[in-house]
Amino acid sequence: MRQIYPAAGPDLELVTAVLGGPQPAAVTELARLYRQDAVSQDRPWLRANMVGSVDGASALSGRSGGLSGPADRMVFAVLRSITDVILVGSATAQVERYKPVLPAEVWPDLRAGRPATPAIAVVSGRLDLDPNAPLLASAPPDARTIVLTTSSAPAASRAALATAAEVVEAGQDHVDPAAAVAALAERGYRQILTEGGPTLLGQLAAAGLVDELCLTVSPVLAGGTAGRIVGHAGEVAGPAALRLAHVLADESYLLCRYLRGD
Ligand SMILES: NC(=O)c1ccc[n+]([C@@H]2O[C@H](COP(=O)([O-])OP(=O)(O)OC[C@H]3O[C@@H](n4cnc5c(N)ncnc54)[C@H](OP(=O)(O)O)[C@@H]3O)[C@@H](O)[C@H]2O)c1
Repeated sequence: MRQIYPAAGPDLELVTAVLGGPQPAAVTELARLYRQDAVSQDRPWLRANMVGSVDGASALSGRSGGLSGPADRMVFAVLRSITDVILVGSATAQVERYKPVLPAEVWPDLRAGRPATPAIAVVSGRLDLDPNAPLLASAPPDARTIVLTTSSAPAASRAALATAAEVVEAGQDHVDPAAAVAALAERGYRQILTEGGPTLLGQLAAAGLVDELCLTVSPVLAGGTAGRIVGHAGEVAGPAALRLAHVLADESYLLCRYLRGD
């Protein structure tokens, strides 16, 4: 993998197994690249990490894994390593079988001063989540899973989930994206990584909350009916301008980092 924009960079050796231990130079360099300008004064920094096919599909056969590759997986791990909390919609958590992040899946040196792993925050209105599932039941005490929901969510489900996770109200009939981000900020989370899905990302984007988009362009023409990485989410705020911060290339994959354009 090497940087091709804004300037040609040295080869960054791919590290496919993320097993902790001494941090390879490529990981240090990737963390430096992705941390550049990733601060905001009055609210947390919200970064989205997504993968899409060349023709814009966000999934193959209903999951994103088929679009990924070694370089994408490495950036995925680095972005998780530099984040405080991972924000996902409940469909992604279920389809992609989310579990608490393990210490061996992130780089310990990048987590200095923070819990060993980032917490996961799941957005759900229906609360059709299993409190005994590993995502909720196996999270460590310093990175408990958070369920962001509404005041109108089913009371019995809320009570059941509250035995395993922190259940937080962030809206009345639907989770308000700004209230969800504010609730995470109140808990001290300054670096938020959303891993989608498109429904959630569409709402975050429409609310003007996305500071950074990390997009892997997978060398595939997917065709079919898969949706885009940003789903239609009710109110459309209009196109949001982005500024290209860098492009890395690995074989035929492109790893693009965009920052808010204004
Ligand atoms: N290409 C990529 O990088 C990428 C990344 C992630 C996912 N994906 C793919 O995207 C698909 C899943 O994404 P998706 O767009 O269908 O769903 P999603 O955004 O992951 O989750 C949608 C669900 O989240 C909850 N939710 C979202 N916004 C809410 C709000 N404002 N208030 C209350 N609840 C809210 C609802 O759950 P409840 O029904 O529980 O209320 C809703 O059904 C999968 O195919 C996955 O593989 C691709």
